[in-house]
Amino acid sequence: MDHAASEKRILQIEARWAWFTGAMVTLILVAILYAGIAMQINPPSNREFIDPKTLHLSGEFTEENLGTAVDASGQVTVRMITTQFAFVPQCVVVPANRPVTLRFASPDVIHGILVTGTNVNTMVVPGYVSQVHTEFTKTGDLLMPCDEFCGFGHSQMVGQVRVVPASEFRPGPDGKATCG
Ligand code: CUA
Repeated sequence: MDHAASEKRILQIEARWAWFTGAMVTLILVAILYAGIAMQINPPSNREFIDPKTLHLSGEFTEENLGTAVDASGQVTVRMITTQFAFVPQCVVVPANRPVTLRFASPDVIHGILVTGTNVNTMVVPGYVSQVHTEFTKTGDLLMPCDEFCGFGHSQMVGQVRVVPASEFRPGPDGKATCG
């Protein structure tokens, strides 16, 4: 092969790789857009601020607002505080096969939560409200361990999500439901 011919061959191979790389990048971009727009799979984060020093004193995350609450429109919202080294409340009850919004806040350090066997998995960063929308399909007691190292008691930090059939989910007159 003379010099010009081998040069041409190299350019051909390079062009082929360029096309291949471009196609892969396009494919990945399309997959990301499809997951985000059509399947609504997004990072669980939203930008919502809360003062970690005062969140227990007033507003949404005071003690009486924690746990599961059903509002007038039937929307189920769970509010929990993640703290060294416990979830407050330790157990929450939710109905199966209904949209549930989980909201978390931390007064101290970064924690992480995941609910085993579900797609619920988020970090809880002081200063922000972490929010996850989900629907639990299987009934039973699901473990919710902290999955972000948060100190010496990290391995003891486990919460519980009790998923009950919709017919057994009976919030009180104030819309609140508890595990007890
Ligand atoms: Cu909280 Cu690890």
